[in-house]
Amino acid sequence: MTIKLYVYILSIMDINKSLIEIGIKLSSERNLDRLLYLILQSARYICNADAGSLYLKEEKHLCFAVSQNATLEIKMGSEEFRKLFSPHTIPISNKSIAGWSAANKKVLNLGDVYQIKNAPYSFDRKFDKETGYRCHSMLTVPMKDKEDNLIGVFQLINKRKADKIEPFTKDDEKVAEALASQASVAINNVQLTEEIKAAHLETIYKLGLAAEYKDEETGNHIRRMSEFSKIIAESLGLDEGFIETIYHASPLHDVGKIGIPDNILTKAGKLTPEEWKIMKGHTILGYQLLKDSHSKIMQIASEIAYTHHERWDGKGYPRGLSKEEIPLTGRVVSLADFFDAVTSSRPYRDKPFPLPKTLRIIKEEAGKHFCPKIVDAFFDSIDRIKEIHYILSEGVRS
Ligand SMILES: [Fe+2]
Ligand SMILES: [Fe+2]
Repeated sequence: MTIKLYVYILSIMDINKSLIEIGIKLSSERNLDRLLYLILQSARYICNADAGSLYLKEEKHLCFAVSQNATLEIKMGSEEFRKLFSPHTIPISNKSIAGWSAANKKVLNLGDVYQIKNAPYSFDRKFDKETGYRCHSMLTVPMKDKEDNLIGVFQLINKRKADKIEPFTKDDEKVAEALASQASVAINNVQLTEEIKAAHLETIYKLGLAAEYKDEETGNHIRRMSEFSKIIAESLGLDEGFIETIYHASPLHDVGKIGIPDNILTKAGKLTPEEWKIMKGHTILGYQLLKDSHSKIMQIASEIAYTHHERWDGKGYPRGLSKEEIPLTGRVVSLADFFDAVTSSRPYRDKPFPLPKTLRIIKEEAGKHFCPKIVDAFFDSIDRIKEIHYILSEGVRS
């Protein structure tokens, strides 16, 4: 075996190993933006490309998703480089390079895009003129699923070898195509997961909405109070996971009202002690309804349903918990719910409290009704709270 052949076999083995490693990485990424970035970065790495872009198919267009460029990112900084791109689409047609590759579902390997002759597509030099960059070689690869449906395309620009720019090779084409099919599977999986997640969140929200409608409340109450809960959680400096969970779980705080008779729920006058006892039971009903779910959001929602009427001083219901015995989620939602309930109108109740009066009460109730730390966080973000209160008020948007 000649040394040249031995080195070639070693390099093929290396590429196969890299492809396997990349495949594992791609399949474990759950966020679409991060996945697309990773696909392009991997394709550039494996073919030694200076730059590249990735587009996803949407109906008859390719939608720009991500772009990377080692030379420009060093020259101008990654932040400034990203500002060069705004959302745009390319028609899937033979007129552009990416469009041709998408329309024909074929790889297009061009040695120098400034030398294209006798082809239906042309190269748009606008980006080069604006940035001073010079595109030479370009490898455009369609990403297709198992049924040969187009998912998108990626383009690799300027193959680097030592200090020179060269055309992409036949081997690059093969490797990039192998990567493209791995990428398609990963994109399909993430899109499916995102769809299921969106449907799951929508179902949770609609369930909360059903309970609020029964209370003759408008849908905006749960929208506002989930926004307030999120703002308070952010103001407390809690982690992203907690913030997202409380945002999606808080609309279910009153889901137990589904089990409360209408004549009690919407009674115009004062409730009798017996009726009040039944009304308070919405906390326990909500908890029982949600507690056995495997979903993290549902579990937190059951905790919120159970504890959103507890008070810091122990005078709340249903269990009379006090201080830190009340979970943080319950303490946050308690204030968000109170603020929205008293500042918005309900058909069977007196007029809403004016904002200054409500804020005064909240301040006075720190350490009594509400956790002092949560009250501080609420006032730290009062401008954002007021903004949401205004934008989502009944008169402004329904
Ligand atoms: Fe409630
Ligand atoms: Fe509520």
